[in-house]
Amino acid sequence: QDTVALVPAAGRGERLGPGAPKSLRHLGGEPLVVHAVRRLAAANSVAAVVVAAPPGAAETVRELLAPVVLTAELVVVEGGGTRQASVAAALAAAPAHCDVVLVHDAARALAPPELADAVAAAVRAGHPAVVPVLPVVDTVRQLGEDGGASSTIDRERLRLVQTPQGFARSVLAEAHASCEDSLTDDAGLVERLGLPVHTVPGHASALKVTRPFDLVIADAVLAAERS
Ligand code: CTP
Ligand code: MG
Repeated sequence: QDTVALVPAAGRGERLGPGAPKSLRHLGGEPLVVHAVRRLAAANSVAAVVVAAPPGAAETVRELLAPVVLTAELVVVEGGGTRQASVAAALAAAPAHCDVVLVHDAARALAPPELADAVAAAVRAGHPAVVPVLPVVDTVRQLGEDGGASSTIDRERLRLVQTPQGFARSVLAEAHASCEDSLTDDAGLVERLGLPVHTVPGHASALKVTRPFDLVIADAVLAAERS
C-alpha cells in the first residue's frame, strides 16, 4: 500500500496579518511549505507528495521546492477558495498507485516525519480514518447559548486535533464527494459518512501556525532542533 501526502497550502493566512500567503512565509530562512514537504517526504511511508499551492503560485512553489532533495514523487497543483476545495484538487492529482492518503496542513510545517508514519501505519492496520490528537491542558468553559451563563466542560475526554490525518483513499474520496459545506478538517467529513475516526498521539511540534505568536513558537522549535 503506497501512501500519498496531500498538502493544502493555498490559504491566505489572514490571521497571521498582511503579507504573502501563509505557506510562503518564512520560518528559519525557508517557506513553511518547504518545511512541511521536506518532513513529509522524509517519512518512510510517504511515496508521493501533492501540494495545493496558492492560486496563481503553483510555479512559484515548484521553483521553491526544486532545489530540495526529496525521496518522494512531487506534484504541485493550484488550490481553491476553501481548504476543502484545495484538498479535493490535490486528491484529484494524487498518483493512482497510492491507496492511503495523508492530509497535512502546510501551516503545521514542523510536524515530524514519525508522526506521518504513525498515522499511515494506523490506516494500514485497518482504520479508515486516523487523526493525531493532544490532550487539552486548560480548563474549558462553554458559554450559554445567549452568551450568558457559562459552565465548565469535563476536559478528560476532549482532544485537540492535528494533522497529518490519514485515510483509506476511497473513504476520503467518498467523503469529499458527498459533502458540499466546508469543514475545518477531513476527518469531520468522514465522520458524516458514519465511519469511526481513530486517534493516535499527536506531537507538540505539529502546532499550527495561525497567528504571529505561533511563528515565535515555531521559530524556537526549529532553533532547538538545529542546536
Ligand atoms: N488552506 C488551503 N486552501 C484554502 C484555505 C486554507 O489550502 N482556501 C490551507 C492553508 O494553507 C493551511 C491549512 O489549509 O495550510 C489550514 O488553514 P488555516 O490555518 O486556516 O490557514 P489560512 O486559511 O491560510 O489562514 P487564515 O484562516 O488565518 O486566513
Ligand atoms: Mg483558514
